Amino acid sequence: MSTDPLARAARALRAGHLVAFPTETVFGLGADASNPDAVARIFTTKGRPADHPLIVHVSSAELLGELAAEIPPYAHALATAFWPGPLTLILERSATVPDAVTGGQPTVGVRVPSHPVAVQLLRELESLGGRGVAAPSANRFGRVSPTSAAAVRDELGALMSPHDLILEGAPSDVGIESTIVDCTGPAPVVLRPGSITDDMIVAVTGLALGERDASIRVSGSLPAHYAPAATVVLDVVPKPGDGFIALVEHETPAGVMRIAAPDSAEEFARELYAALRAADEAGLHRVVVVSPPGPGIAVAIRDRLRRASHGSRER
Ligand code: TXA
Ligand code: MG
Repeated sequence: MSTDPLARAARALRAGHLVAFPTETVFGLGADASNPDAVARIFTTKGRPADHPLIVHVSSAELLGELAAEIPPYAHALATAFWPGPLTLILERSATVPDAVTGGQPTVGVRVPSHPVAVQLLRELESLGGRGVAAPSANRFGRVSPTSAAAVRDELGALMSPHDLILEGAPSDVGIESTIVDCTGPAPVVLRPGSITDDMIVAVTGLALGERDASIRVSGSLPAHYAPAATVVLDVVPKPGDGFIALVEHETPAGVMRIAAPDSAEEFARELYAALRAADEAGLHRVVVVSPPGPGIAVAIRDRLRRASHGSRER
């Protein structure tokens, strides 16, 4: 048997164990999507409610037909344009996808990641007969997504079982979760913004975006999510003792601890979650973040910041 770590990890998945792995967005906590018991362990490990559906990760769009029952032409166009990459498509599920993965919903979320470790892991699993890795972000429910293997160890290391694995790999390049697009209606509907923007989706599909149906559950769309232990406050002047995250052109007031000074919105996204973790490690009570302005990935950053700061705006 191969001693290659990714072949070993694929065998662990097939044996029902969990494998945390890097993707270009954030790190995921994976289980063999065809094994409901393994998938159930993701929920207990994360402390996530069982009715929140998981994204199925596959190595290529060719496997879409096995997971989805109905694929509109605009979904094919999105897959062709943006896979492998930070885009999740919600499609009508096929009968092969277990309820444990979809939370009993009639749809399935599918993504082809581009991180080389993720791609190789998925290929190895598929060579063993597997059809996808169900994986949420590898954090405890409601907390900050991890963008490095070290962050996964801090988050979940103590909660995982001895046969579960955490794969090493380059930190996530995008740094925030994938754009989620509902492809079950006549036009695409963005359920969660990400680095694939509304304009990019409109340009590829030639369709105007549809309106969101509030009955679809997306846990990342709960008002409070992505939150560190420190209180996150947006767009105020930081006080001495606060942590501070802002684009580099914002100066740090005296007595304030600067934890990130990105020079672009892309770098802001890449560094944000590690910076929020650093705030907790430093024992800070409060972090002030200046929201990056403008279109593009800044829209998704502001979405995450709103949720990370939910209920703490006045503090
Ligand atoms: O970038 C990402 O998407 C990362 C990496 C690991 O791929 N994954 C991720 O998974 O962020 P998670 O579970 O933390 O967030 C996925 C979101 C959840 O809010 C879930 O409710 C939603 O996707 N989702 C999954 N399947 C769905 C479905 N069938 N219908 C509607 N929403 C769905
Ligand atoms: Mg998550």
